[in-house]
Amino acid sequence: MTTTSTAAYWEPLWAEGRRYRQLDGPENRLIDEFVGPGRGRPALDIGCGDGTLARHLHHELGYRTTGIDISPSAVALAAAHDEDPGSGPAWRCVDIATSDLTSLPEPAYALITCRLVYRWMDDKAAFVNRVRHLLVPGGTFWVVTEIAGRREDTDPLHSLGISPAETETLTSGWSTVQTADLDVLRCYALHP
Ligand SMILES: C[S@@+](CC[C@H](N)C(=O)[O-])C[C@H]1O[C@@H](n2cnc3c(N)ncnc32)[C@H](O)[C@@H]1O
Repeated sequence: MTTTSTAAYWEPLWAEGRRYRQLDGPENRLIDEFVGPGRGRPALDIGCGDGTLARHLHHELGYRTTGIDISPSAVALAAAHDEDPGSGPAWRCVDIATSDLTSLPEPAYALITCRLVYRWMDDKAAFVNRVRHLLVPGGTFWVVTEIAGRREDTDPLHSLGISPAETETLTSGWSTVQTADLDVLRCYALHP
């Protein structure tokens, strides 16, 4: 069976030039509304890819941001955007499923984001559990994911949507769950 939260799966895709849905104005406005200003607090973007979201959190919202990704090519691409290294987010090549997370720059984060990543986690319950341990009390876990049923069955991208059971794994056990819909995507702001 193909496992999809591994470097063996993602590294060739990034290295050969595959790119993913770009952040746009409506999505940025939802992030800004639900996540709010950072005021220098730490944020972690899991599966940062080319780093667009991490840069938005860092430069526009004022979070002290770290972007992590399992793919060395993605991390290199993200870091290449920084004109002045040190002024932008920190970038790390980290496997959120298996790496020792004590090596991250901060022990805990006020904001953890995860855009178009949850669907690919092989063990979703374990993933959510690891995130919980990295979130400060009162923090926010911001997840953007496609959900099932938003595309025609014949659409080649039909399988990108998460199932109701996977939604339940993501959303259970939080004190508050806020959602906002954006065409095929659903955004979740989860609070411990
Ligand atoms: C569909 S891409 C989305 C990238 C980016 N978040 C965006 O919105 O453009 C999924 C990303 O998750 C990363 N990823 C997958 N499994 C991972 C893991 N176990 N640890 C860290 N990153 C992972 C991939 O390398 C890839 O960059």
